[in-house]
Amino acid sequence: MSEQISPEAATDAQPLESRGDNRSQRPSSAAFKAFITSGWAERAAAATGPGAAAPFTAQRRARLSAAFPDARLVVPAGGFKVRSNDTDFRFRPHSAFAHLTGLGTEQEPDAVLVLHPADDGSADEGSAHRAVLYMRPLAGRDTEEFYSDSRYGEFWVGARPTLEDLAALTGITTAHLDTLRDDLAKDVGADGVRLLVVPGADDSVEAVVEEIRATEDAGQDDARLAEALSELRLVKDAHEVEQMRVAVDSTIAGFAKIVRDLPVAVEHPRGERVIEGTFGAHARLEGNTVGYETIAAAGEHATTLHWTQNDGAVRPGDLVLVDAGVEADSLYTADVTRTLPVDGTFTDVQRRVYTAVLDAADAAFAVAVPGARFRDVHAAAMEVIAARLAEWGLLPGTAEESLDPEGQWHRRWMVHGTSHHLGLDVHDCAQARREMYLDALLEPGMVFTIEPGLYFKSDDLAVPEEYRGIGVRIEDDVLVTADGNENLSAALPRRPDDVERWMATILQD
Ligand code: GLY
Ligand code: MN
Ligand code: MN
Repeated sequence: MSEQISPEAATDAQPLESRGDNRSQRPSSAAFKAFITSGWAERAAAATGPGAAAPFTAQRRARLSAAFPDARLVVPAGGFKVRSNDTDFRFRPHSAFAHLTGLGTEQEPDAVLVLHPADDGSADEGSAHRAVLYMRPLAGRDTEEFYSDSRYGEFWVGARPTLEDLAALTGITTAHLDTLRDDLAKDVGADGVRLLVVPGADDSVEAVVEEIRATEDAGQDDARLAEALSELRLVKDAHEVEQMRVAVDSTIAGFAKIVRDLPVAVEHPRGERVIEGTFGAHARLEGNTVGYETIAAAGEHATTLHWTQNDGAVRPGDLVLVDAGVEADSLYTADVTRTLPVDGTFTDVQRRVYTAVLDAADAAFAVAVPGARFRDVHAAAMEVIAARLAEWGLLPGTAEESLDPEGQWHRRWMVHGTSHHLGLDVHDCAQARREMYLDALLEPGMVFTIEPGLYFKSDDLAVPEEYRGIGVRIEDDVLVTADGNENLSAALPRRPDDVERWMATILQD
């Protein structure tokens, strides 16, 4: 029997970074390399033509171009993010990159979209810039990457696109990532081209940009770019609205599956995980994944706004608050909440709280029309919430006093806002200026949530015992139209009687 080598006798000369290879037993012989890189059939071309998003992304790039006519704009997709040690999270491109290229799902790690200012006649149609998509194309079968690179190699992650594939799909000129640095540096200087990069998307691309421009105040210009990219998404185009419908419709189907599985959830000590699992499986089957971590919060857990631990029991007689959204393959996500009676019937006090929240939501819908300001939506919901809380004797003054900026007692039971823009990010357009977001007039094409709630913690001595441990949120996704709005998630029942009927129908099947 051979002996185990002692830790003292093991060599320590190897740098830490390369020690992950210590478990590798891959052959390195010339015979192996020659054999594994030969004898493969010709690859078939992947993409056949431009994706449905291509005409829309060209318009989005043209709008961005008009805001920065003389700057070179760098929009990275980002790279892999480590989950632990040498395993990564599933790749998702930065939303600004997805918006301007139309690429979704897992395309394309390390790619970088660059808008080059072009006054030499080479600009794209309708734009002052020429767009180039730099990428790391699929390596040939005659390379080591093909079989040995676990992040990019075809043997490990499948055949990624070629330059031709991505050009055909996006309608954007493609170039090898190896040419990025030189192309970024061209004519950059005091009297030359300004170079701007989306901050926070890709550290290595940012470092290259920093090195090239080496100016002190460039960071501020990067912030302008991030802001413009966010504001570009405040009003959705027709393709985006269509994708929002895909995401919302799929989310509604996922909620029906949750109700179907409620009896299973009740039986399991971690019933909240049953709900999370049901919705997560649905999102992976029907779309890309969930747009954010599902909140499955039964009983008192519903009073924790971001309860994503989801390890609690689901008990008959309680409510369960489920906040979940399918992210479509295009990466647009829904964001929907329903608060359901676990056994299919609201108690009187649950119904009272639920109805107050529903009335607040209805009031918000009534003002979410062109010409109103975004902030008016929240104000309308708060009027109802304050009035109900006053009616129930929970406020230390009148509803009017509470609504005054110096009062605000009602916010003890709803500390979050009523609405946020929705799209590629669940909290979309987050870098937009206040004047363009909260203070802005609503316009057709805007998509946002309406999601009032009331949350009474079980140890809240400011409310009578019957309210304690009840948390309710109702969240819908609204599209502003020319003459009002459309509740995109209206097909998911939200009135208490409708919820009970809908649940009964599913549970009887
Ligand atoms: N699901 C997160 C939110 O509602 O904003
Ligand atoms: Mn939301
Ligand atoms: Mn939500």
